[in-house]
Amino acid sequence: MGDNFILRGDICWSTGPDTMETVRNGWIVCEEGKCAGVFTRLPEQYKGLPVTDTGGQLIVPGLTDLHLHAPQYTFRGMGTDLELLDWLENHTFPEEERYEDMSYASKAYDIFAQDLKNSPTTRACVFATVHREATEYLMEALEQTGLCTYVGKVNMDRNAPKALCEGGAAASAKETRRWLEDIRGRFSHTRPILTPRFVPACSDELMGELAKIREEWNLPVQSHLSENQSEVEWVKELMPEAEFYGDAYDRFGLFGGAGPAIMAHCVWSDDREMGRMKDRGVHIAHCPQSNMNLSSGIAPVKKYLSSGLRLGLGSDMAGGYHLSIFRAMLEAVQVSKLRWRLVDQDLAPLTLKEAFYIGTKGGGSFFGKVGSFEKGYAFDAVVMDDRGIRTARDLSVKARVERMICMSEQCTMTAKYAEGRRIC
Ligand code: GUN
Ligand code: FE
Repeated sequence: MGDNFILRGDICWSTGPDTMETVRNGWIVCEEGKCAGVFTRLPEQYKGLPVTDTGGQLIVPGLTDLHLHAPQYTFRGMGTDLELLDWLENHTFPEEERYEDMSYASKAYDIFAQDLKNSPTTRACVFATVHREATEYLMEALEQTGLCTYVGKVNMDRNAPKALCEGGAAASAKETRRWLEDIRGRFSHTRPILTPRFVPACSDELMGELAKIREEWNLPVQSHLSENQSEVEWVKELMPEAEFYGDAYDRFGLFGGAGPAIMAHCVWSDDREMGRMKDRGVHIAHCPQSNMNLSSGIAPVKKYLSSGLRLGLGSDMAGGYHLSIFRAMLEAVQVSKLRWRLVDQDLAPLTLKEAFYIGTKGGGSFFGKVGSFEKGYAFDAVVMDDRGIRTARDLSVKARVERMICMSEQCTMTAKYAEGRRIC
């Protein structure tokens, strides 16, 4: 838990998809790692606490990256002329095979952890590879950053190079149990998450094993869902008895309900899949940059949001090549406008306000009371100097936050806190 302290600045946070609060030159109080409130005048009871005055910088909740692949950071910005299945075969799987080698893995994961630490993200749900040793190293590296993360050793036993198929379902399950034993009690803000890669790479036998492990260890689950049309067709062939793609996870209790689950992408989910995700409380990780790069399509995010589904944003590194969730907010808005104009005139585009909500409180909710400055929420905050966006106008805090999302590369993050810990 962090110390008790106060930040002063121009503060902005979401309480819901359509409700953005701002306070100019306000005070935000951190008590025992939690937000005690945002105030226009500092209440008497807090007057003894140390204050850092940011001098009018923007203070917003820490961002959540609900879906990314740490081992893919090495080849970000490369190879995205292909669609998903060819990209996996030609770029992703060959790269991930390299994480057997701990000298490569440690070098790669040190860079990844440093860069994530220096991004505006305070929470992340991370895929590693199938390799236990490298996954444990990644968890150590992330723990040291102070960020709050879920990390998954990936499971796969088919439709991939032999070196990534873990010697079959039983061996994959055994290695997963060993990983969980190894890390038990070792970390305070780095937690395990069960990670079947996706249906094409996991046999029914493996899914059955993972179902048992999920129950025994009471783990959350992360995976991929309905990202690409060829993938969706392939899943129909592999599991004809499933009513739809998500049902193939649900049959094994790996689709929310009994425990939390994140499904990345959901570009091609139909109404049945949507309904099941709602019933089961599945979190959808929307990854607009990846969906553009791999020509996957445009997820109907506005529909998910207005239907009350749980939504967060993901970079999907290295389907996406940028770690900034500010950028993902902007891209979520932009692709939703193209979808509206080109695909479905009945589905309005996302607003920036909604995208800000999804990237903060929406994704943060996977971690509990996270991603807002309401009283009792975890003190996750980023302080942004937006003076790089030069203007002659005097702007409201709300307008400055809008511009920060649109031109985040012109802003500088000057501080970041997770659970009240100063991260950078
Ligand atoms: N589906 C299965 N594996 C992957 C992956 O590594 N990235 C993306 N974007 N989709 C996947
Ligand atoms: Fe992914």
